[in-house]
Amino acid sequence: MNPGRMRSLLAFTLFLLAFTPALANPVGSDKPRPPVAAARDPNNERDIERAVAALLKRMTLEEKVGQLHFPSLAFPHQPQLEAVRRGEIGAMLNVVDPRFIRAFSNAARQSRLGIPMLFAIDAIYALKITFPPPLAWAATWRPELAERAAFEVGREARAVGVNWTFAPMVDVSRDPRWGRVIEGAGEDAFLASAFAAARVNGYRRGGLATSVKHFVGYGAPEGGRDYTGTEISTPELLDRYLPPFVAALQAGSETVMASFNTINGVPVTMNRKLITDLLKKQLGFDGFVTSDFVAIGELVNHGVARDLEEASVLAFRAGIDFDMASGGYDLALAKAVRDGRIKTSEIDEAVRRVLRVKYRLGLFDATPADFAALPRPVDETSVRRSARDVARESFVLVKNDKSALPLTAATPAIALIGAAADTAAHDHSWWGPAGHAKPVTETLRQAIEKRLRPGQTLNYAPAFADACGRKYLDKGAAIAAAIRSDIVVFNVIEDCDVQGEGVSRTKLELSGRQQDMLDALAATGRPIVLVVETGRPLVLAKPDRQADAILIAWHPGTEGRTALAEVLTGEVAPSGKLPMTFPRSEGQIPIAYNTLPTGRPWTGSRYTTGYIDEANTPLYPFGHGLSYTTFAYDPIILSQPAMSTTGSIDVEVMVRNTGSRTGSEVVQLYTRQLVASRSRPIKELRGFEKITLKPGEKRSLRFRLAAQSLGFHDDAGRYVVEAAPFKVFVGGSSDTAVTTDFLITPASARGAPVRSSGSGP
Ligand code: NOJ
Repeated sequence: MNPGRMRSLLAFTLFLLAFTPALANPVGSDKPRPPVAAARDPNNERDIERAVAALLKRMTLEEKVGQLHFPSLAFPHQPQLEAVRRGEIGAMLNVVDPRFIRAFSNAARQSRLGIPMLFAIDAIYALKITFPPPLAWAATWRPELAERAAFEVGREARAVGVNWTFAPMVDVSRDPRWGRVIEGAGEDAFLASAFAAARVNGYRRGGLATSVKHFVGYGAPEGGRDYTGTEISTPELLDRYLPPFVAALQAGSETVMASFNTINGVPVTMNRKLITDLLKKQLGFDGFVTSDFVAIGELVNHGVARDLEEASVLAFRAGIDFDMASGGYDLALAKAVRDGRIKTSEIDEAVRRVLRVKYRLGLFDATPADFAALPRPVDETSVRRSARDVARESFVLVKNDKSALPLTAATPAIALIGAAADTAAHDHSWWGPAGHAKPVTETLRQAIEKRLRPGQTLNYAPAFADACGRKYLDKGAAIAAAIRSDIVVFNVIEDCDVQGEGVSRTKLELSGRQQDMLDALAATGRPIVLVVETGRPLVLAKPDRQADAILIAWHPGTEGRTALAEVLTGEVAPSGKLPMTFPRSEGQIPIAYNTLPTGRPWTGSRYTTGYIDEANTPLYPFGHGLSYTTFAYDPIILSQPAMSTTGSIDVEVMVRNTGSRTGSEVVQLYTRQLVASRSRPIKELRGFEKITLKPGEKRSLRFRLAAQSLGFHDDAGRYVVEAAPFKVFVGGSSDTAVTTDFLITPASARGAPVRSSGSGP
């Protein structure tokens, strides 16, 4: 092995080690996790490798290429059935009807070698029961709830015969103009890593193979416009975008999806450095990599290939094992082997990865009876319970002046405004109830009506002709309902038909006529509670001035309106925290809490960093979220003031419920390296835990900070942990409550004076 390769391997081992503690336990314990491969049963793995090798020997070149060919279900599907029988198709996407799955499985069984098929869809947060979207899962700050949600979705998908999901999407993003933020866990690598692992565990437990996506850097599109290129430095790639992928691989994700974007000018689909060198070799990933949908063909649009044939050879040589829907591999690979552009051994390696995954999933053990039994029943009560639990904990109360919420018995008349409040037709999900009957969904109006106290009335007015407030139905009736009431609950929604992909926006204010309606409601002088359904941070600066309370409800899903009514009426206290910063205006984007310091911090004078027309601060910071009670933090107690580069420090903090209600708080721990060899973020999340406290109750929390988890990558991709002064912050948001200082000292001279590795003091 050459020294360069040795160095990069070492760097990555260190990198993995450094992230291991952070991923093992979201509260920051340093208990190590087993590496990816060791998570599997080695005996079984040996058997699998033997079976794969034996099968490979029996396969013709055409059958091998067939295993890499991954089309979408086409109509009529007879020609595809024939192709499956000839061993020319290894997997199919967008097939959710058990009848098709049964037919294709039987056809695969009838092929010469009977190799089973993968059936893939985007089973992300819904099949029959729609959960809130993954961004809302992250807002719970409880990875175990994401695990449950993914498990239920996985179960429902598996029940119709699907065995592979294109999830989790773990792209870190700080740009809410990009619609796909709805699918991820927000702007922070540490939070996203905890949720990436949880989601992989959940989908897998539900019976699906996962495809962690989009590898890598897709979350940083230029201008927030989907499918545009990204410019990402090595440290940024390794510190910000890669960690959630590492977490998902550690959790056992069987497959990885390559992203559409270019990085620094090179499309990922043809990027050998990223796919083969980084992912497969350095991170040791031994499953297979699929392209994204028709991404191989799109290499022609990227201007790096003349035609589909050339694009296919480029992608294959980069390490893309599976061709999703471009039809390039079946066109080009066998020919490329015959004319010497691709070696048989390279084809074998890709096919080995695919077969390995099929064996790991147990697909070779399935019998026709298993397919005959599709769709299998799923216990809907349990899925609904999980959907409600996730929704409840995902709502984020970003403002609550004069205790506008919860709605109490002391409020005789409540106005409920908005067509969205009396329908569930606008529920967002990728696949709807695919393969299942549409579930019954309670509307917010029905859920609140059930909870009215004696003597209390609900004055409902839809205001709009459609759920998304694009057109008025009767504005006057809505104003009249507000005037007749003591408080107004206005249910607004980001927009309809927003599913993430391809829905980039430049304007993030309330859409349609909703702001106009809010202006009119505000003019009545009644207190206003704004319930905001959204899949991304919106610009709510004006609503923030008009409403007394704002509850971010995400897209709450099948059980979500019931959960909303529980929270609005105080049966349940809100406990979500923002996984993404809410800007004051679009002009602040990209904006995130963990920005770098500047040489010219804002002082109010001209030549310091800032806008002449807007504040630097966000409207609602990352980690922010209120409860119906209040919490106070005692000063931080450190187990010791310093640790060596190989040591750890325990950070202890006492949290008290200082209000009059039971409530939950997400205690968040951040650090900052004050002096370093390169500028380091002003805060970085390092631990979190959600706790529930009764009025007057206090709890002491302990986080372990391992020095090895506090490093970063340099330009050469080396992971460094520097001896340096640090700050630690703890609080209920990234705008933290309490802070203190500690040191990392050189490993050899514990307790010796600290010298930073940079220009230093
Ligand atoms: C394109 C999207 O980028 C990807 O996330 C999705 O899994 C595929 N289409 C398949 O639907």
